[in-house]
Amino acid sequence: MALPKVVADGPLAPLVEQLLAGQVELLPWSVAEAGTTATIDGLYTYGHPLVDGAMLDRLPGVRVVSNYGVGVDHIRLADAAARRIPVGNTPGILDGATADMAFTLLLAAARRLIEGDRYARGPAFLRYDPGYMLGVEAHSQTIGIIGMGRIGRQIAQRARGFDMRVVYHNRRRDEASEQRFDAQYFPLDDLLAASDFVVLSVPLTDHTRGLIGARELRRMKPTATLVNVARGPVVDTAALTTALQERWIFAAGLDVTDPEPLPRGHPLLACDNLTIAPHLGSATEQTRRKMAEMSVTNLLAGLANQPLPFPVR
Ligand code: DGY
Repeated sequence: MALPKVVADGPLAPLVEQLLAGQVELLPWSVAEAGTTATIDGLYTYGHPLVDGAMLDRLPGVRVVSNYGVGVDHIRLADAAARRIPVGNTPGILDGATADMAFTLLLAAARRLIEGDRYARGPAFLRYDPGYMLGVEAHSQTIGIIGMGRIGRQIAQRARGFDMRVVYHNRRRDEASEQRFDAQYFPLDDLLAASDFVVLSVPLTDHTRGLIGARELRRMKPTATLVNVARGPVVDTAALTTALQERWIFAAGLDVTDPEPLPRGHPLLACDNLTIAPHLGSATEQTRRKMAEMSVTNLLAGLANQPLPFPVR
């Protein structure tokens, strides 16, 4: 019997290829972007390629979209729902890894680790000087978490281990987290003004796009650090560049940017108070394995016209 045909954007990780071997026939993403064909059964999104109604109309045979990752801002969910196409993602298993990354960036930015690393390897480091590269403390400071969802809660838990005071902003109050982390709910402007570290862990939606712009950065303390492990477009890149250049804030730690990647030579990349990673939030062996397994399970369920075990909610 012929295998179901699946269009995927790749190159895919070897584990994903292995899990799909003998189960589906893989075709390149260019097939989804080209003309109309009714012979495609499923879409597998590995990076963040756009999936919209126009694409789904060109591929009327598609009966599932499976995403390798939890964020689905690149998939027009309403368009898929209107065509009764289920969309799956990988929630719940990457929260710990992403919260670890938030703290990695927070500590590295606060303690100027990347600058220090470069200096320690370079020719200028000839003697210890108690006066150089002073950072700011993380322990016992106030952390403002914007987005107290699954990842936000893991960040709060780590913050408590650093004796930090936790304040948060969310669409809805989360009384369980308030109790568990002794956290206080703040309106956004109050959180920005009160926090030593502002950490973004919200999904990208119409509501969160551009949430942090010049006005918000101006409200932050000059000693504060902004950490983004959400999506690049939550922050206005031009405003952040000016804020770091003109030292409106102390530092930023970014796992994501807008655009991503930033064009080489972008002025944000020249800021010495920026710590940046290439979207590594969930990039551990253990988490990426689970993401591969869940996304392939979703894909195969959809191709078999079964309910997806991990549908986007
Ligand atoms: C996620 O799971 O959303 C990661 O950012 C990878 O897309």
